[in-house]
Amino acid sequence: MPAKTARIVYLNGAFLPENEAHLSIFDRGFLFGDGIYEVTAVLDGKLIDSALHMARLERSVGEIGGRLPLTTDEIVAIEKRLVADNKLTEGVVYLQYTRGAEDRNFFYSDDLQPTLLLFTQVKTLEHVAAVDTGLKVKLMPDQRWARRDIKSVGLLPQVLAKRDAKAAGFDEAWMVEDGLITEGASSTAYIVTHDDRIITRGNGNATLPGCTRLAVLELAREQGLTIEERPFTVEEAKAAREACLTSASNFIVPITNMDGAPVGDGKPGPMFNRLRVLYMENARRTAI
Ligand code: PDD
Repeated sequence: MPAKTARIVYLNGAFLPENEAHLSIFDRGFLFGDGIYEVTAVLDGKLIDSALHMARLERSVGEIGGRLPLTTDEIVAIEKRLVADNKLTEGVVYLQYTRGAEDRNFFYSDDLQPTLLLFTQVKTLEHVAAVDTGLKVKLMPDQRWARRDIKSVGLLPQVLAKRDAKAAGFDEAWMVEDGLITEGASSTAYIVTHDDRIITRGNGNATLPGCTRLAVLELAREQGLTIEERPFTVEEAKAAREACLTSASNFIVPITNMDGAPVGDGKPGPMFNRLRVLYMENARRTAI
């Protein structure tokens, strides 16, 4: 059997085979989770919602008092080169920024050289079974920190929530705080009422401002659909006619089961189908 070709990754200025890319054991991303990440979808070899991801990256890095070593135009050029070099047609580009490496100390030096790592990952995004069957979500307590608007690499609560959801036979966790759904462990949460209102939580510190969310809501608004950006309760979610989630790694998929009970008639609904068509068409049209 021919050996699997090593992926080309980007690390701190160099394009390298993945097995030659090495990071310091003192990297603050590793020791403290002191870093930021982004996940951008790739479809037909093109970046999806790229400008939205770059804007959120800049914001997240700014919120932790960091500085990107490159401009976002330079980062996009790296992403495109990785997609081309690895012949990626469908999947994601993962980016991680950390504050850099030095002896372990909560206080950090101001002159640290940040770490910037990017790699591609093959993943089927478009033709997935979940689009037809829907996903099952389990409601779980939201155990995350208070600045969920920052796309921090500290993801232990989400890892544990997904582990528990999976062990119980579910696909994703929807997190609950004070009787209100915040979002999915790695996705934005939506419900659709019996009178066709789309409800999703407004952006704030309680949730990550999803890039896919931004694109979907803009398209829905253009269509004159009714959107309520507000927190919604567990009771509202359970009484919804439809539910769905969005993320760069799923685009938009329906939720047909919540905590073991069907959502609506237990099948992907018409609002989901409409939003999916709108989103996929727009994603392709605006891909770079
Ligand atoms: N997660 N909320 C959370 C907590 C997320 O982790 C994500 C994305 C989203 C959706 O954001 P976007 O539409 O910009 O992908 C919402 C990525 C895909 C991940 O962690 O792999």
